[in-house]
Amino acid sequence: MSEAKKIGVLVSGRGSNLQALIDRIEAGKLDVKIAVVISDMPGAFALMRAEKAGIKTLTVNRKSYGDRASFEKAVDAALREAGCELVVLAGFMRILSPAFVAAWPHLIINIHPALLPSFPGLHGQGQAVAYGVKYSGCTVHFVDAGTDSGPIILQKVVPVLDDDTEDSLAERILAKEHEALPEAVELWAQGRLLIEGRKVKIISKK
Ligand code: GRF
Repeated sequence: MSEAKKIGVLVSGRGSNLQALIDRIEAGKLDVKIAVVISDMPGAFALMRAEKAGIKTLTVNRKSYGDRASFEKAVDAALREAGCELVVLAGFMRILSPAFVAAWPHLIINIHPALLPSFPGLHGQGQAVAYGVKYSGCTVHFVDAGTDSGPIILQKVVPVLDDDTEDSLAERILAKEHEALPEAVELWAQGRLLIEGRKVKIISKK
């Protein structure tokens, strides 16, 4: 058996998507190794989750760096030092520069709480409730130089109910996020994502 591919996870907050990855790995259902978890926010709960799982953690506090380029250089160096082959954004609340994205071509994955291209940016769930859509969900996509605009890997759908609030919809979507993100990472690890322009084809298991 070949060695599990190494991934780095970038976080900023509570880390429930990170936990979903950890749980899948520990259950033997996701064959990757989380080589490092990096937070831009000191004290993020996600760091505690990683430590509990025995994963190396690092805080790269944006406020300690004069500009975005030097902050990103530190993040990039830490990912490379840990031997990461894929970067997973799991509730990472910063936009990465085109230069950073170009240095990891089709090797950064993000999870977004809406059915892109609807409702990109912040508060995807609140935007969906305010707009009055009947369905929303989550999207896992490769990161490109835009905001939430890269090629889509997977989407999962949930209904939006008449009495939904941003919070109640977010909770329903989050349950789907926790399925979608590990699934997408597993597809990547198995070499089953074929990117053709904007489209990502999922090729069948060898
Ligand atoms: C999720 O809703 C994710 O889609 C968005 O930020 C939230 C992060 O939640 N990008 P968590 O930190 O993984 O619990």
